[in-house]
Amino acid sequence: MPIDILNPLAKRVVASGDAMLVISGSASRKLASRVAQALRCPLVEPERSTFPDGESYLRIDREVKGEHVVVVQSTCRPANDNYIELFLLLDAAKDLGAKQVTAVVPYLGYARQDKRFKPGEAVSVRTMCKLIERAGADELLTVDIHEEEIMANFAIPAYNLTAMSLLGRHLSTLELRDPVVLAPDQGALRHARRAAAEFMADHDYLEKTRLTSTKVKVGPKRLNVAGRDVVIVDDIISTGGTVIEAIRILKRQGARRIYAACTHPVLVGDAMRRILAAGARAIIATDTIEHKTSVVSVAPVIAEAVRQGSP
Ligand code: R5P
Repeated sequence: MPIDILNPLAKRVVASGDAMLVISGSASRKLASRVAQALRCPLVEPERSTFPDGESYLRIDREVKGEHVVVVQSTCRPANDNYIELFLLLDAAKDLGAKQVTAVVPYLGYARQDKRFKPGEAVSVRTMCKLIERAGADELLTVDIHEEEIMANFAIPAYNLTAMSLLGRHLSTLELRDPVVLAPDQGALRHARRAAAEFMADHDYLEKTRLTSTKVKVGPKRLNVAGRDVVIVDDIISTGGTVIEAIRILKRQGARRIYAACTHPVLVGDAMRRILAAGARAIIATDTIEHKTSVVSVAPVIAEAVRQGSP
C-alpha cells in the first residue's frame, strides 16, 4: 500500500537528526525548491554542463560532509539523461561525505518495464533500482509508482507515497456538481477511492463486460454518471489513449463536465491537445513531472516523509 502522509497512521520511523540540504536535479527544479522551502533547509543547485562528446558534468559546490542530503530528481523524459544525472548526484554526495543520502525520485522512469514480457528482455526498472542503490542512496522515496511490487527490488528502505489525497483536495475546490471520481480500470480504483475520500465524493471504475464473442460493453461498474461531473483519475497519463476512451464512454452516458487527473503527466506528443479535444475540461496533474498541467505540488508529502525520517 502506498503511504499516505496525510494519514498519520501511516507514518514511517527512521532515525536520523542531521543538518539537511536539498540538491535539485535538473528535471525537478521547481519541486526541489518547494521541498527545501517546506523543510526550511538550504537548496543546492549543482553546477552542470555537457562535455563536447555529450557526457554530463556535475559539481556540488557546497560542503555536504556529515549532512543529510536529499536529492530530488524525477527520471522522466529524457529518462536516460535524467537517470545518469541522478546517479552522479547520489554518488558525488555520498563520496563527499554525506552522512545520509535520500533519493527522491517522484516519477520513477522505466517502471512500466517491470517484467520480462518477451523472452530475453531486460527488466529495466530492476536495473534502475540496483543502480540507484549502488550509486549511494541510503533510502528512496517515490510517488504513486506504477506497480507497488517494484519497491521490493530495493534492499534499502524504499517508500511509495501517494499524491491522491492532495489531488482530491484540489478537486474539492472546483465546485463540481454531484461529483464522481472514476478510475479508468479496476487497477486504478484505489486511487479514485483515496482522491474521492478527500471531498466525500462518490467513486467507481469503468468495467468491461463481454456481452457476446464480438460485443463488449464498457461503463461505470455501479454508478449512473448522467448529469454528474466526473473526474477520471489515474496514476499516469501517457499517450492519453486510456483517458480519451473513458471520456468517450462517459459522454455517451450523459456525464456533464469531465476532468482528467493524474499524478504523473507524462503526456507524450500531442496527448494533451487530444484529451482536451475529446472533451476534458482540464487536465489536473502534480509536479512529479514539471508540466503546464502541474497544478498540485507533491512537496508537502515528500517533505513530511523526509521529516518523519529525521525527527
Ligand atoms: C496503466 O496501467 C496506467 O495506470 C495508465 O492507465 C496508463 O499508463 C495510461 O497510459 P496511456 O495514457 O498511454 O493510455
